[in-house]
Amino acid sequence: MKKIEKLEMVEISKYFHTTRANYKVSFSIESGEILGLLGENGAGKTTLMNILYSLIQSDEGEIRINGETVRLHSPKDAIQRGIGMVHQHFMLIQNHTVAENIALGFEEAPFFFPAGHVAKKIEEFSRIYGLKVNTQEKIWQLSAGEQQRVEIVKALIRGVDLLILDEPTSVLTPQESKELFSILRRMAGNGHSIIFISHKLEEILSICDRVLVLRRGEIVGASSVQSTDKRKLARMMVGRDIIFDFEKEHIERGPLILEVKELIVPGDRTERAVKGVSFKVYKNEIFGIAGVSGNGQRELIEVITGLRRASGGSILINGKDITNASARLVSDQGISHVPEERIKFGIVPNLFIYENTVLKRHHNKRFSKMLFLNYQTIKSHAESIVKDFQVTAPSINTPIKNLSGGNIQKLILGREITGEPTLLVAAHPTYGLDVGATEYIRRQLLERRGKGIAVLLISEDLEEIFELCDRIAVMFEGEIMGILPTQEANIEDIGLMMAGSRK
Ligand SMILES: Nc1ncnc2c1ncn2[C@@H]1O[C@H](COP(=O)(O)OP(=O)(O)OP(=O)(O)O)[C@@H](O)[C@H]1O
Ligand SMILES: [Mg+2]
Repeated sequence: MKKIEKLEMVEISKYFHTTRANYKVSFSIESGEILGLLGENGAGKTTLMNILYSLIQSDEGEIRINGETVRLHSPKDAIQRGIGMVHQHFMLIQNHTVAENIALGFEEAPFFFPAGHVAKKIEEFSRIYGLKVNTQEKIWQLSAGEQQRVEIVKALIRGVDLLILDEPTSVLTPQESKELFSILRRMAGNGHSIIFISHKLEEILSICDRVLVLRRGEIVGASSVQSTDKRKLARMMVGRDIIFDFEKEHIERGPLILEVKELIVPGDRTERAVKGVSFKVYKNEIFGIAGVSGNGQRELIEVITGLRRASGGSILINGKDITNASARLVSDQGISHVPEERIKFGIVPNLFIYENTVLKRHHNKRFSKMLFLNYQTIKSHAESIVKDFQVTAPSINTPIKNLSGGNIQKLILGREITGEPTLLVAAHPTYGLDVGATEYIRRQLLERRGKGIAVLLISEDLEEIFELCDRIAVMFEGEIMGILPTQEANIEDIGLMMAGSRK
């Protein structure tokens, strides 16, 4: 089959019931180009790419390759025609080796021992693109960056000409992102086309040739990266100016709120996910824990919020020992929690939006009178969260599962932040949020810090850590590599600590 020299999506429209996810979207991409795809949460980026990859079908419009209309009915067709996609949530099988994962569904592989045949091919591609992968390792042993490389090798081996990456860098360390970018440049140099979705504008500007901006399903702007900048892109996306530099005013920290002492926490796969961690968080302080996810952060905050048991050490809130207390008791102590896996733990998918805004707090005086829930107050509470946090939703009487990923996150954040906690434990609060929502959340966190709450912030995003935190701790393999006041820290040092060097 002829290589993809030029691919066009023409007048693509897609509706989900009454939601217009894509409307008359047209664009083209040529061999060797890296095209950025930007847009607010719910703008329709994933939907458009799922259509190109033929995971879903459009209602109107067509796809042309080298000027010819093609009909692709499934991802298998798409791959055969040279289109590959790496989804934000990897789809690798954890208990299989790298080689086995790559071999899966690979047509050329012989029936017996396909892994051996594939291993040779993997080596070939690794050499050409500088993609380091160990074919014999199991997926669960790999970091996010390594898994990403496996996904890319998998696509390359299938011979894709055009590769779609949906928010590929949200789980990578800065070093891993750099590596990914040089791989992408090499691919483009070899004539591949790449479509790159990200909410991080610097990334789009540094890696892409051109950028498309989607808003409410329509293309509202297209530009070469040379003739645009961060502010212009943000304005196109959200229709207003975005403030990138926050004035973080200096605030004297207040009394001790949270004390974690020598905490030991068993993991799901390991005996110890957290190996004797100690730190303190004060009122009026944002205390950040930086680190690549999977280094014990999740287990740590699950113990603090009552979702997991510690096997050693202690946790005190306002001097009171809450080690291994129930989630309800922890919540009654004024601890709010924005969990990492929000979709899994933060919501009840089938409940309406307004019901989800009072989860865990329906027994609060404000929302219930005697035994009855006060629906009027609950609904106006929900309306104000939807409005303040710019949640795109048909109405608060919609099951929450029908919202886009980013919008579900905004709702949970709104619920947890507006609960006026003593301590807010927030894991990756802006993960997957668009620039407008990110700005809003960050400003909210700083504002609440000023009003006296303590924030324990877990993030992989160093820009976010530096912008918000008063002090930064770095976690690696279950231990804290060091704790630094933000003024004394620099990105390179923190990056190195994230990779395991001790300060
Ligand atoms: N399966 C579905 N059923 C109903 N509505 C859907 C479905 N998939 C997407 N939508 C809606 O289509 C719109 C576009 O969603 P899409 O996931 O494409 O956005 P996105 O630009 O990828 O956003 P994000 O940055 O949050 O990932 C949203 O309003 C979303 O609620
Ligand atoms: Mg998406």
